[in-house]
Amino acid sequence: MCGIIAYTGGQQAVPVLMNGLRRLEYRGYDSAGISVSSRKKLRTWKSAGKINVLDSQLPESIKAQCGIGHTRWATHGAPTDENAHPHTDTEESVTVVHNGIIENVDALKDKLTVEYKSETDSEVLAHLLSQTIKEKKCSLIDAMREVLSRVVGTYGIAAISAEEPEKIVLARSGSPVIIGIGEGEMLAASDMSALSRYTREVVHLDDGEVAQITPDGFEVTLLDASPTDKSSMTLVSNIEDYDRGGYEHYLYREIVDQPDTVRRTISGRLDKRFNTARLGGLNMEARDLLQIQRVKILGCGSALYAGMAGANMIESLSRIPCDAEPAAEFRYRNPVIEASTLYIVVSQSGETFDTLAATREIQRKGGFVLGIVNSVGSTIAREVDGGVYMHAGPEVSVASTKAFTSMLSVFSLLAILLGRSRDVSPQRGAQLLLALEQAPDKIADVLALETHIADIAKEYANSHSAFFIGRTSAYPVALEGAQKLKEISYIHAEAYPASELKHGPLALVCAETPCVVVLPESELLDKSMGALEEIKARGAPVIAVTDSSNKRIDKLADHVIRTPLADELVQGMVMGVALQIYAYHSAVALGRDVDQPRNLAKSVTVE
Ligand code: F6R
Repeated sequence: MCGIIAYTGGQQAVPVLMNGLRRLEYRGYDSAGISVSSRKKLRTWKSAGKINVLDSQLPESIKAQCGIGHTRWATHGAPTDENAHPHTDTEESVTVVHNGIIENVDALKDKLTVEYKSETDSEVLAHLLSQTIKEKKCSLIDAMREVLSRVVGTYGIAAISAEEPEKIVLARSGSPVIIGIGEGEMLAASDMSALSRYTREVVHLDDGEVAQITPDGFEVTLLDASPTDKSSMTLVSNIEDYDRGGYEHYLYREIVDQPDTVRRTISGRLDKRFNTARLGGLNMEARDLLQIQRVKILGCGSALYAGMAGANMIESLSRIPCDAEPAAEFRYRNPVIEASTLYIVVSQSGETFDTLAATREIQRKGGFVLGIVNSVGSTIAREVDGGVYMHAGPEVSVASTKAFTSMLSVFSLLAILLGRSRDVSPQRGAQLLLALEQAPDKIADVLALETHIADIAKEYANSHSAFFIGRTSAYPVALEGAQKLKEISYIHAEAYPASELKHGPLALVCAETPCVVVLPESELLDKSMGALEEIKARGAPVIAVTDSSNKRIDKLADHVIRTPLADELVQGMVMGVALQIYAYHSAVALGRDVDQPRNLAKSVTVE
């Protein structure tokens, strides 16, 4: 998705902007650009392609201490030099970078008689700002408020004007903008990753806010110019959290970091005195927990799969009916919202548009929403009624890994809490806490299987298609395994519940389709083995991922990835790591762009 960076202060702006753009790269983009302001003049460079292309076009030395930059993910108009941001008005007196979509762009354009240089919806903003400044003889921030009162759509905006050389005007509606506070300098970005090198002191803009930054401070107002009393918060993440840690890929670092990230997620949350979980941010008393009649979990992509796994955990331990649904489907089907249902939204970024929209729809109808979010201070984190942070640290690679296991960790905690408020005994509670406490070590044991898993992945890397099979609690793990493989290796991969195989997919199972079968030790193991037989009978290579020592698995499977035996509460997160390693090595064997897979973006902030 598109990214914004802005800087005003004592340093040269161009290196700061270029560094910010590089930090935003992971979100996915197809063109990039910067504008700087100095001596009442704006200069802009932009180009399609990677940031290095832009870099090669910049003059040796550009003296300017204020500017804005952008990475663009094409929506309106192809990824060309002209469509890249920043966009300027005809006289180049104003430049604008914009994330989001302007829905009434045609109506806005009709009111202007200018020649457009791009096919984007964003360019109209530059012309409207410049026209308003001229006609009303007003400042950029006044013009911004006036223009935005006519705009329908979503936006995160940064703009500069030649007439106000040190000022950057920002605005937000539906697309994140964060102000970063430095000493004698101020920054802004759509994503914390671009600010982390300079500051940890931030202000998150809310929808409907328009702000202005200068080297000495910030001012946040509403669209009607009334003031706000926004204050800053300090984030705990460090610049190193955004590095590859010496590895070739962020994804690899994020996979191998999981013993630590899961440890962080559960840290301080295991209440051994009462053998339950301690989740301070829920904003729910024990009595409220007893009123819950149903739990509904919402998320997108891997967060949805984590939610499906979480639903199994919650229902099985608490006996409260629980299910997970894609956030977008939910919000569009005019759902019935019940006061006795606990709604849980799950999101790594905390900015996923559909998950946010589902949150708002539930709240509008009077429902109570809990958030399981990784990104501190993100929109979803700020808007939910209660929540649990994952504390997994920034996830940079587009494909989610450590956030997935941290989501499962939070669901385990919630399942223990809800279970202990009902039928789970203190003794079973103690076992569950122990299982969770031991999960990081078990994940470390899975990481030690890397060479074995990599060998298998390489053997099947040239397959066109793969199947992932799992039953009940193993099904979401299979879904996430298939998701990882298709995302980063581009091998077509589908997941099915074991019971569904003979209802269709078996038609495609053959010697060319490796089948990864997730077989946790459980009372259903024998039943799942049936699927293994069915696959084998069609001549397909079988890769069994199991923590069972059952000898039949070794006989039937071509390869066995044996993960450490774990309590069923944490089996999914332990086995899931084996599937991440499998996907990673498949992608590496095929020479894919592991961290930035084609067509995908980190943090999908549009519908
Ligand atoms: C998969 C992946 C996506 C995200 C989905 C939700 O590897 O990264 O499927 O899980 O876009 O994102 P968040 O969790 O930020 O809401």
